[in-house]
Amino acid sequence: MQLAQRMSRLGTESAFEVLAKARALEAQGRHIIHLEIGQPDFPTPAHVVEAGKRALDEGWTGYGPTAGFPEFRQAIAQYIAETRGIPVTGANVCVVPGGKPIMYFLMTALLEEGDEVIYPNPGFPIYESLVDFLGAVRVPMPLVEERGFSFDLDRLERELSPRTKLLILNSPANPTGGVIPKADLARIADLVRDRDLIVLSDEIYSRIWYEERPESITQFDGMVEKTVILDGFSKTYSMTGWRLGYGVMPLWLATAVERLMVNSNSCTASFTQRAGLAALQGPQDAVEAMVREFRRRRDAMVNGLNAIPGFRCRVPAGAFYAFPNVQGTGIPSRVLADRLMHEAGVSCLSGTAFGEHGDGYLRFSYANSLENIEQALGRIRMLSASWAQ
Ligand SMILES: Cc1ncc(COP(=O)(O)O)c(C=O)c1O
Repeated sequence: MQLAQRMSRLGTESAFEVLAKARALEAQGRHIIHLEIGQPDFPTPAHVVEAGKRALDEGWTGYGPTAGFPEFRQAIAQYIAETRGIPVTGANVCVVPGGKPIMYFLMTALLEEGDEVIYPNPGFPIYESLVDFLGAVRVPMPLVEERGFSFDLDRLERELSPRTKLLILNSPANPTGGVIPKADLARIADLVRDRDLIVLSDEIYSRIWYEERPESITQFDGMVEKTVILDGFSKTYSMTGWRLGYGVMPLWLATAVERLMVNSNSCTASFTQRAGLAALQGPQDAVEAMVREFRRRRDAMVNGLNAIPGFRCRVPAGAFYAFPNVQGTGIPSRVLADRLMHEAGVSCLSGTAFGEHGDGYLRFSYANSLENIEQALGRIRMLSASWAQ
């Protein structure tokens, strides 16, 4: 018996594989500093945990409505309406277990074989994996370091074709920490407004920014009707393990996503939705404190990386990743990531984990303590003597 052919086209997220390798080294007694995994190292805010516990005690333990509890969908709609300045209602909201299922459901609902998907590269690896899985056509859009890791918009214009069914944007971005400037979003909106395509705007890092608040493409004329916002609680409220996210989309797509949900998950866990409601409606000081701390670490990380021979690191405007260019070391990024793990005990990801245009870069997550970040930087500096002649 063999697996279905389509399984051979499904990719993976190698952060989890690298984490497993690092853990295996730890099991052998090695000390590893983890800068590979993309989850905040802060606890879920106490009042959110409390709301989850209370919900369990109150019996929020059964099935709920497939697309989420109406009160929760309404609260999300209000939050999105306020933060993006767009008119949406609870009916536009699909609550799902994490942000990722929105990618899976939307792309499954939308893409036929041969449809073209434009997506950022380097970018979240699941975009490319799902394009392949569904037999759609990859149209990777290289991110340009000199433009703060935004697209080359002239190239985007050339790549748009009558077969383009989906354009994926991610701002603030994984793995680069880049934020798409408002002027770029305006031009992208102009380029796609009259085309028969959908935009997936992955805004999972929307609250984690340092300079200017990231804008959403939905605010431009005609874009709410053709955009799916992906957002959720994993990063903003340190809730990766609760599995709670959502999509905000036109009604015809919401109906399709709901149909896929009923065929797969039935619904998102009820008590986690109660915790999510408390997160949205309660005090936001934990989010603000987290971002303040991320900023301190970002600055330490970027300064430290720029002091390493052969490394050149831009200051990321959002998310919690630094994405240095390491071409100056003369070592292929995959080899370098491996050497950092084995010879320095620092676990990070090769830029190639995010697509071919990630070659020549490494991704460091600064979701770790300042002390560990400083120690990791010290170790890399020591090792750099081996390539800096
Ligand atoms: C760009 C991006 N989108 C979506 C997700 C998925 O988030 P979740 O854990 O809520 O599924 C991640 C997680 O790393 C991400 O980096």
